[in-house]
Amino acid sequence: MDFAEVIAARKSIRNYSNKPVNKEIIMKCLEAARSAPSWANRQCWHFIIVMDRDKIEKLSSMINFWLKDAPAAVVACGDPSKSGFKNDQHYYLVDVAIAFEHFVLAATNEGLGTCWLGGFDEEKVYVFSSILNSRNFHQNSSRPEKLSNILAIFFYWDYERGRN
Ligand SMILES: Cc1cc2nc3c(=O)[nH]c(=O)nc-3n(C[C@H](O)[C@H](O)[C@H](O)COP(=O)(O)O)c2cc1C
Repeated sequence: MDFAEVIAARKSIRNYSNKPVNKEIIMKCLEAARSAPSWANRQCWHFIIVMDRDKIEKLSSMINFWLKDAPAAVVACGDPSKSGFKNDQHYYLVDVAIAFEHFVLAATNEGLGTCWLGGFDEEKVYVFSSILNSRNFHQNSSRPEKLSNILAIFFYWDYERGRN
């Protein structure tokens, strides 16, 4: 797809099949997110990719039951301490949102349907994603005290646009 086609094709997809998502495609989407602009290039985001069936079902139970068959999900988190604060405004939300939309557009380009989701109990998903990511957190001496989950997104294999 060219750029205009990607922009036109992106829409929130809530019907899906549970066809597995190729990990290489997810890596491409992460690379697109990584190249996003951010406050002082701090890249305050953390993306947690969830592909394990049990964990997706658990995540689904915290957010929305109809997500349980999704083949993959990504929880996007922002670290407020790494981004900017000016004029009484936090910029980590901006940073993560830009990066996430890069992710979404890259996924669209690969034929994946996606949906931004913001309507969930952040504290519950935070605890869950901390557990999911605990190995990385423990290895990382600069682990922030509190990451903020601002968004979750679920992958769907789009019937109309999906690849076989
Ligand atoms: C920050 C944000 C949060 C959203 N949260 C939800 C959500 O919790 N549940 C949902 O079904 N859609 C959610 N959406 C998707 C919007 O409803 C959707 O983008 C909007 O209706 C426009 O439709 P389109 O994406 O198909 O163009 C969210 C979108 C954004 C950008």
